[in-house]
Amino acid sequence: MSNESIATRRNPSVIAITNQKGGVGKTTTAINLAAAIAHRGRRVLLLDMDPQANTSISFIEPQTVRSSMLEMMLDGECPCEDYIHDTAIDNLHLVPSRISLAKLEAKLTGDFDAPFRLRDRLETLNGKYDLILIDTPPTLGLITVNALVAATHVLIPIQSSYFALEGTDDLLETIEKVKSRPNPDLQLLGVVVTLHDKRTTLAREVYQQIREVFGAKLFDTVITKSVRLEEAPAYRESIFTFAPQSSGAQEYAKLCDEVMSRV
Ligand SMILES: Nc1ncnc2c1ncn2[C@@H]1O[C@H](COP(=O)(O)OP(=O)(O)OP(=O)(O)O)[C@@H](O)[C@H]1O
Ligand SMILES: [Mg+2]
Repeated sequence: MSNESIATRRNPSVIAITNQKGGVGKTTTAINLAAAIAHRGRRVLLLDMDPQANTSISFIEPQTVRSSMLEMMLDGECPCEDYIHDTAIDNLHLVPSRISLAKLEAKLTGDFDAPFRLRDRLETLNGKYDLILIDTPPTLGLITVNALVAATHVLIPIQSSYFALEGTDDLLETIEKVKSRPNPDLQLLGVVVTLHDKRTTLAREVYQQIREVFGAKLFDTVITKSVRLEEAPAYRESIFTFAPQSSGAQEYAKLCDEVMSRV
């Protein structure tokens, strides 16, 4: 085994996919990036930290969830087969969420280690995974803070629509706060433009604005609007098996190349 792969085993990159704006493609990016990386033979753990559980439902039937992210955060340890579920994709495992995760904040109020719960759990994984991806909810609350404290990198999806950059300052400020104390090594992996509609002038203008703000942090890959990407989760498939020839499959494969070259 090469030195590089030994290093990867000990310290998996942990990528939090975050934007407190709703509906910008966080979950779609988490699902398809995780699948793309797993198809390349890397062992991927996908953590669903959104009480909406959209990522979980895209891979497994809700009734097959044994024990979810809430229990892992409250009383569990990792690795534990009760929390980590297989998916239909080789090399891709999932800690699912349920609506009950919405109670996490109330349950952890006053606990001094509240922001560190996820990081503590992941430290016990001991090289089982090459990469960990976290889907986060559209808030900057305790769940997202846990993801940022546990992460090595942040990936921000931004939809190229009106108000695209509204709220980005708050997100960057939260990232800076997490960097200044609990997680100084946290890095902005990149920004990906999603749900892009090349035909509209507005989308092209907003894209230029995003490029000006983020410069080299903006991924070259743009995820365009595609009905296939919207449909795939209903069939519990990633875009790579649901519509392998689609633009969405090509774009997420390209994004995977860029992500792998940056971590
Ligand atoms: N490139 C795309 N083309 C078409 N539809 C898309 C695309 N990306 C995402 N969608 C659809 O847009 C909606 C929002 O996407 P998604 O759930 O990924 O966003 P999100 O940021 O995770 O939302 P939330 O903040 O609610 O968690 C979903 O219905 C999804 O299927
Ligand atoms: Mg989501």
